[in-house]
Amino acid sequence: MAGRPIGVFDSGVGGLTVLQALRCALPAEHYIYLGDTARLPYGTKSPETVVRYALQAADALVARGIKALVVACNTASAAALEALRAHHPTLLVIGVIEPGAAAAVRASQHGHIAVLATEGTVRGGAYQRAIHALRSEAVVTAVPCQLFVALAEEGWTDGVVVEATVARYLAPLFEQVIARPDTLVLGCTHFPVLRAAIAGYAGSGTTIVDSADTTARVVQAQLAAGGLLRTAGQGALQFLATDGAVRFAAVGSRFLGQPLQAEAIELIDLQHLR
Ligand code: DGL
Repeated sequence: MAGRPIGVFDSGVGGLTVLQALRCALPAEHYIYLGDTARLPYGTKSPETVVRYALQAADALVARGIKALVVACNTASAAALEALRAHHPTLLVIGVIEPGAAAAVRASQHGHIAVLATEGTVRGGAYQRAIHALRSEAVVTAVPCQLFVALAEEGWTDGVVVEATVARYLAPLFEQVIARPDTLVLGCTHFPVLRAAIAGYAGSGTTIVDSADTTARVVQAQLAAGGLLRTAGQGALQFLATDGAVRFAAVGSRFLGQPLQAEAIELIDLQHLR
């Protein structure tokens, strides 16, 4: 059982930032990464649609024998975690919102926390709830930054367009005198590639956190608790996408921090599942 792969799922290449953290923490594990690139973005879709997409992705990964599922997408974690656990009661299913909230609460000095996320994640309020569960007096502002997903998928991480977009979304936060955030949470797995531009705007008084490392630690702890950790040898990597292998490889390389070849990405169809 411990030798079986971990499934990692996102709407696109954003979840590769989580995969990278997982590989750092757990290099002996085998991973199957699935990016639902044909149906990206998830962040503008209704919760019902995101739940259906997430269940289909989970079915495809379960059929490949995974021992755990990491939902490396905040939008899908916010909308579909309960449904995924209900449909796969014996599978370990781990999302990124609670680890992200924990990282924010740990980092924040005054409890003034801003969450940058997709429209869907902000609308559902999952981050706000998760942060308040850990620190009830926290002042949480959630800002939908949907264009960041398009910039990240395009591989645009610096330059005038990126700077102007960051300024447009963040200005209202930093113009406030009261409750100006001391911590920004990158509440979408696409956003870590824009970290430098976001940090540059926010300035040195603001701590930026994402959920990747904290999620990897949660996965490690839960696999260990279930006796499911693979500890010896070098893990293998497998990539699945629902469209655009060439684009996935080109942009994904930047997210993963290592070259990806289009030929190594298997295209699959999720539409027929469920
Ligand atoms: N990467 C995803 C997230 O963490 C969503 C991006 C999208 O598909 O809108 O929320």
